[in-house]
Amino acid sequence: MTILVTGARGNIGSQVVARLHSIGRPLRASSRRASGLAVPRGVQTVALDLREPGTFRAALHGVTQVFLYAEPDGVADFLKAADEAGVRNVVVLSSNTVMLPGADKDPLAQHHRVVEDAVFASGLPHVLLRPGAFASNALGWSADIREGRAVQQPFADAQVSPVHDADVADVAVAALAEGSRMSGVVPLSGPQSLSFRTEVGIIAELLGREIQVRDLDRDEARETMGRFVPPPVLASLLDQWEAGLSRPADTNATCGPWTGAPARTFRQWVGEHLGAFGDMPAR
Ligand SMILES: NC(=O)c1ccc[n+]([C@@H]2O[C@H](COP(=O)([O-])OP(=O)(O)OC[C@H]3O[C@@H](n4cnc5c(N)ncnc54)[C@H](OP(=O)(O)O)[C@@H]3O)[C@@H](O)[C@H]2O)c1
Repeated sequence: MTILVTGARGNIGSQVVARLHSIGRPLRASSRRASGLAVPRGVQTVALDLREPGTFRAALHGVTQVFLYAEPDGVADFLKAADEAGVRNVVVLSSNTVMLPGADKDPLAQHHRVVEDAVFASGLPHVLLRPGAFASNALGWSADIREGRAVQQPFADAQVSPVHDADVADVAVAALAEGSRMSGVVPLSGPQSLSFRTEVGIIAELLGREIQVRDLDRDEARETMGRFVPPPVLASLLDQWEAGLSRPADTNATCGPWTGAPARTFRQWVGEHLGAFGDMPAR
């Protein structure tokens, strides 16, 4: 009854490991580099690279459930090996980009669609988690905020409904729970539609100081972000954000029905990560 958690170094994967361990579920934590992987005492670790079929057998031995990051290269081989090993439930961290208009041509959507299609084709019972933008994306502003510079954000007035990563992990664990009846596709939104500018305002309020926002146009975004983000992915993000200028983001698919708790807010996420943005205000 072992659960294999892929990407156990990741933001969501590490929280899934901690939660499963705390409720006493037998699990194996995997990472491309298993050495030095920080896991709770007693949790097995194994090296697994989803692009390297040679690493599948040891990782999947005795496994009945998998928490899977969306890595398209080699996913069909991994699912075949999982089926042969006796896996009976795959919970995939996918993305709501697969539901975008134009998803067929969108590289971010396609990255996740390849994985979802492979899961459908495998015939394995599954839950496909489709979260929207993570609250943790705000960490991309942290260096500028810490160093007192303006946040540079294309389409700063675009709205998103940030999803707290702890809610994503909670829903993943609910899907992996013994006797869970969750199956199929699970979209996940945050509880509020907020513009990027409002998100920065919340960080500023909790830090107790002003933060300027510089709204970038497409050319400026390509110049600034193109150094870190591959051009097709950046184009996809800019299209999504531009579309978010004209409508509020969806808030109708929160974690509540799956976790029994209200979705955590962006404000709560910032409060928990304030140290990443600068010194905490004196109380
Ligand atoms: N950011 C968003 O707004 C957003 C929205 C919707 C969906 N998502 C999905 O969530 C993912 C990010 O989750 P996160 O915040 O937890 O990411 P993260 O902290 O960056 O962790 C990514 C994990 O992916 C694992 N990984 C990458 N390539 C792998 C491979 N070839 N084989 C095995 N594992 C591999 C890494 O494992 P190692 O331990 O080996 O490094 C790492 O633990 C995105 O990639 C996307 O699919 C994100």
